Amino acid sequence: MYDLHSYGRMIADRVRVDAYSRAMKAAIRPGDVVVDLGAGAGYFSILACLLGARKVYAIEPEPSIWVAKASARDLGLEDRIECIQAYGSDLELPERADVVISDLRGGISTFQGNLAAVVDARRRFLREGGVLLPLRDTLHVALVASEPVASWLFSPWSDGVVDQAAARALLANTVHALPRDLLREHDLVTSSAAWATVEYHGEAVARLSGEVSLVATRSAVANGLAVWFDAEITDGIAFSNRPERPGSAYRTMFLPFEEALEIEQGDGIQVALSTSIDAGLWTWEARGAGGREHKQSTLRGELPLPGMLARLSGEHRPYRRKDERTLDRAKSLADGMLTVREIGVAIATENGSDLEEVRSVVKGLGVTIPGVPMHLRGKHPSAK
Ligand SMILES: C[S@@+](CC[C@H](N)C(=O)[O-])C[C@H]1O[C@@H](n2cnc3c(N)ncnc32)[C@H](O)[C@@H]1O
Repeated sequence: MYDLHSYGRMIADRVRVDAYSRAMKAAIRPGDVVVDLGAGAGYFSILACLLGARKVYAIEPEPSIWVAKASARDLGLEDRIECIQAYGSDLELPERADVVISDLRGGISTFQGNLAAVVDARRRFLREGGVLLPLRDTLHVALVASEPVASWLFSPWSDGVVDQAAARALLANTVHALPRDLLREHDLVTSSAAWATVEYHGEAVARLSGEVSLVATRSAVANGLAVWFDAEITDGIAFSNRPERPGSAYRTMFLPFEEALEIEQGDGIQVALSTSIDAGLWTWEARGAGGREHKQSTLRGELPLPGMLARLSGEHRPYRRKDERTLDRAKSLADGMLTVREIGVAIATENGSDLEEVRSVVKGLGVTIPGVPMHLRGKHPSAK
C-alpha cells in the first residue's frame, strides 16, 4: 500500500508524467470516456478531464481514492470523475471507454500481476478501436560492479563482530529493489540488452524469459545484474527507468551473484533470465569467457527458507490460528451490507466468545478489504 507521499513522488517523476501526459493528449478527444485504472490520488483522472474527457472512471482499491474524490470536488469535476474504490477485476462499468490508462508498475513491469489486470481492463472496459495506454515495456539487463551495492546488501551480516554466512547466501538469491541513487550508470560494466517484453495489447502470459549476449565495456569484478525497463506509452512516446535516471519513481532491480564474476574488456557474457509474473519466482545465470556459470534462483533465496519449503510439500498439515479463523469467518460475512460491528457480534454469538476478543480481530477487516465502492453505496453490491 502506498502512502500519499509515495503518490507525490510518482507525480514528481516528471519524465514519467510528461510521457503519459503527451500520450494522453494524443489519445483523448473531447467527449471521450476514460478509465484510469490504478488511479492513485487521481492525477491522471483530473488530467483526462482537462484534456476534454466527458467522463472518467477512476478505479483504485486504496484509500488514496478519497484524495481523488476530494480533488474532483474541489476542482468542480465531481460530475465527470467517478471514483470507485475497488480492483478493476471486481468491477463492471456501465459503458465502454475510448481510452484506458494505467501505470501499475512497481519496481519493474511484472509487479504483482499488473499485466493480468491491464489485459482484463482492456478486454472488458475498452471499446473496440479504443486506445490502451501503455503499449509495452521492454526489460533490459546489464552486469554490475558496485562495491556500495554489495556493501548495502551484505555488510550487516559480517560486521567484524558477528558473521552470518547463511543470511548472505539467502540474500544472494533474492531479487532486490535498490535504494534510489545507489547504482550509478558507471557501475554498469557491460553493454545492456533487452531480454523480455511485456505486451499490454497481448495475452496475460505467466512467465517472461530470455537469453542475451553482453559485451564487457571494461575489465571489472561483476557482482550482479541490474534489471530495468523502457516503457512505451504509445507509438513514439517512451521513457526509461535506466539506472541513475534523475527523479525516477521506480527503482532498479538487482539480482546478485553468489560469487563475483571477473570480466575483461571485450569479453562476451551470456545471461539468461526468467520470472513468473505473479509468484515473483526468478532464475538468473551468467556465463563469462572463462566458462564459469552462475546459476541462481529465488528458490534458494529468502522466500523458501527450509521451514517454508516443508510447508509446500503435499504432506504438510496446514493449521489456521484461532484469530485467523475468526478473520476468515469475518471475511466470509463481509457482503457489503453488514458493518464491522455487526460482523463482530455475529461471530461472537456463533462462537460463544467474548465480543472484545472478536472485535480486535474483526477490526482488521477494514484494512484488509475495501468497503463498498462509492458508486454502489446504499445498494447491495450484487444489485449492479
Ligand atoms: C504506480 S501507482 C500509479 C498511481 C497513479 N495512476 C499515477 O500514475 O500517479 C499504481 C496504483 O495502481 C493501484 N492498483 C494496483 N493493482 C490494481 C488493480 N488491479 N486495479 C486497480 N488499481 C490497482 C495501486 O493501488 C496503486 O495505487
